[in-house]
Amino acid sequence: MEVERVQAIATLTANLGTIPSEFIRSDHERPDLTTYHGPVPELPIIDLANSSQENVVKQISEAAQEYGIFQLVNHGIPNEVINELQRVGKEFFQLPQEEKEVYATVPDSGSFEGYGTKLQKDLEGKKAWVDYLFHNVWPKHKINYKFWPRNPPAYRKANEEYTKHLQVVVDKMHSYLSLGLGLESHVLKEAVGGDDLEYLLKINYYPPCPRPDLALGVVAHTDMSSLTILVPNEVPGLQVFKDDHWFDAKYIPNALICHIGDQLEILSNGKYKSVLHRTTVNKEKSRMSWPVFCSPPGDTMIGPLPQLVNDENPPKFKTKKYKDYAYCKINKLPQ
Ligand code: SIN
Ligand code: FE2
Repeated sequence: MEVERVQAIATLTANLGTIPSEFIRSDHERPDLTTYHGPVPELPIIDLANSSQENVVKQISEAAQEYGIFQLVNHGIPNEVINELQRVGKEFFQLPQEEKEVYATVPDSGSFEGYGTKLQKDLEGKKAWVDYLFHNVWPKHKINYKFWPRNPPAYRKANEEYTKHLQVVVDKMHSYLSLGLGLESHVLKEAVGGDDLEYLLKINYYPPCPRPDLALGVVAHTDMSSLTILVPNEVPGLQVFKDDHWFDAKYIPNALICHIGDQLEILSNGKYKSVLHRTTVNKEKSRMSWPVFCSPPGDTMIGPLPQLVNDENPPKFKTKKYKDYAYCKINKLPQ
């Protein structure tokens, strides 16, 4: 079956100044009509090196409650490790199409892993201006190396190196976020599966788009993970919904973007907010991003933590297995 990759459509339409109608958003989604250009709040910036732990916990907890997203600087992952992750991912997307297709997702396999393009249209009947590569990076028994590009040859080493450093940051985040709820530092990590927490890497590749005013990269959504940590390239595009407006997140070189996902919103009984976000695309440049979704193993029961629930604060969410939550989310069924 011939699959239409957005990268191929972008090449075909580059000089036309138009895009196929299935990529044209309706008025209530069009970025030119819905992006707020007034004075916009900046995403909170958390410096993991400069403050006392008490301060960092306070800042992270406030950011998670108010925004559900923040930028981490001085996070401890060496810049070279991040640059190398980006270099090998970019080189993969620059390979000829047939080389990339070797890693294509397997339809009906029940797995996200592989190189792909969302084939089904969304609820609005529209398509997203993005191709992607998904593969698990941790724990070891979840890794399928057949979905890891063998070209460029440094791909595997770069991803392993990044994952190793990322785990330290993710553990720290769960621990600070626990303290921020007035709980002991280990509580959230344990609630999301402890050392079995699963790390799924996605590379988003948003090719240049002749009409960035009309199309969207990824449509508005919240992440179903516990936590998502994302490396962007230098082309802005991430937008966050706050106080009834869509606004652009600023690009900060070498920062990591940390999203609170649905599972942390549920565990905190709504105190932390799972952030609504989307991405726009660029006329001349390819935007890329490397989110890692950190999620509990499928059988983990997730619900509001008992320590946070009482007569005045009844549970706001059901308790259910993560895999059942994911099934409803993916199939757009009520939770
Ligand atoms: C996503 O939320 O799936 C992508 C975010 C980004 O590319 O910045
Ligand atoms: Fe997302």
